[in-house]
Amino acid sequence: MNAHFVTLPGDGIGPEVIAQAIRVLEAVADRFDHTFSFEEELIGGAAIDAHGAALGLETVEAALASDAVLLGAVGGPRWDDPNSRVRPEQGLLGIREAMRLFANLRPITVFPQLADASPLRPEILRGVDILFFRELTGGIYFGESGVGEGSAYQVMSYTEGEVARIVRMAADSARTRRGKLTMVDKANVLEPSRLWRRVTTELIAAEYEDLDFEVVLVDAMAMYLLSRPADYDVVVTANLFGDILTDEASMITGSLGMLPSASVGLDGPGLYEPVHGSAPDIAGAGVANPLATILAAAMALRHSLNLEQEAAAVEAAVASVIASGLRTPDIAAGGESVGTTAMADAVLAALSASTE
Ligand SMILES: NC(=O)c1ccc[n+]([C@@H]2O[C@H](COP(=O)([O-])OP(=O)(O)OC[C@H]3O[C@@H](n4cnc5c(N)ncnc54)[C@H](O)[C@@H]3O)[C@@H](O)[C@H]2O)c1
Repeated sequence: MNAHFVTLPGDGIGPEVIAQAIRVLEAVADRFDHTFSFEEELIGGAAIDAHGAALGLETVEAALASDAVLLGAVGGPRWDDPNSRVRPEQGLLGIREAMRLFANLRPITVFPQLADASPLRPEILRGVDILFFRELTGGIYFGESGVGEGSAYQVMSYTEGEVARIVRMAADSARTRRGKLTMVDKANVLEPSRLWRRVTTELIAAEYEDLDFEVVLVDAMAMYLLSRPADYDVVVTANLFGDILTDEASMITGSLGMLPSASVGLDGPGLYEPVHGSAPDIAGAGVANPLATILAAAMALRHSLNLEQEAAAVEAAVASVIASGLRTPDIAAGGESVGTTAMADAVLAALSASTE
């Protein structure tokens, strides 16, 4: 197939990790007989330096015309002036809005060889493989707000349509995985949660009876993620709950440099990025872990290009490199380590060995 990627390296280690993800995608194209093209555009601090704004029209137009967008990270001390009206993060929010991305997908998998980096015991971590679907454009973060005399408020509101479209997406995904779907809400207290529960329950009964479906209250879920995370497959939830639970879940892995994320809409390209930021403390040193971004590229293959076999091959290559003991400093626990390029070289070698 032909596919066109727009890359937005951004700031700090962003360009370093994006360069390695492109190498992996090029190798995938070569191995599986596809034609991938790449076009680089500006975002974040880099765009502020060039044009005075964190997101330009050219970047938006290129992103919308692509098949998938691969983002590095934005931000850094250079653009941290609190008095400045232009900030790198505006680029992120702007591109998500322009691309109408309403679902944030965060896979949480634990590589057994990195279990020591987790604050949880190894027996609790065994088999953890969760895919979160967090609603991204509705709920309390976008509700009407106000500040009064000694008071403040912010409204949480959802429509049936907003709930149904992300639940359907999560349910479709559960069908391709282990067939279990968990919807997290606070229906014992919140009216919008009662809407989530009604819409979800009706939708699953009507269209997804084959799934193993359950609802869990958010406060209980916060505990279960620590006590029995391996019980969950696909988890779908509202914006606020998803924000908190996905950060909690990412700590389970103990390895920020390994976690990818995707934001997708109904149609059109998705946006794929590592969960980590621009890591200004190590930018330019050639030691950034490129695996989160390489795994984000695998998500692009799966979710935007429908290339499941190719995505799985990249993920298997990463897993085999980790199993072989190779580490960048962030996951080396003080032991021997290699740099960004050597880590990506090893992924390329594993990919080539597995598809020979
Ligand atoms: N999506 C994004 O673009 C995004 C997300 C979070 C933070 N940020 C921005 O990034 C900047 C730094 O933020 P921060 O320090 O809080 O978070 P960070 O994720 O950039 O870094 C946190 C720590 O993890 C390390 N780290 C992160 N990614 C790594 C990788 N791939 N390999 C090795 N080590 C890695 C860093 O060196 C640092 O010690 C800020 O300007 C922040 O606003 C951007």
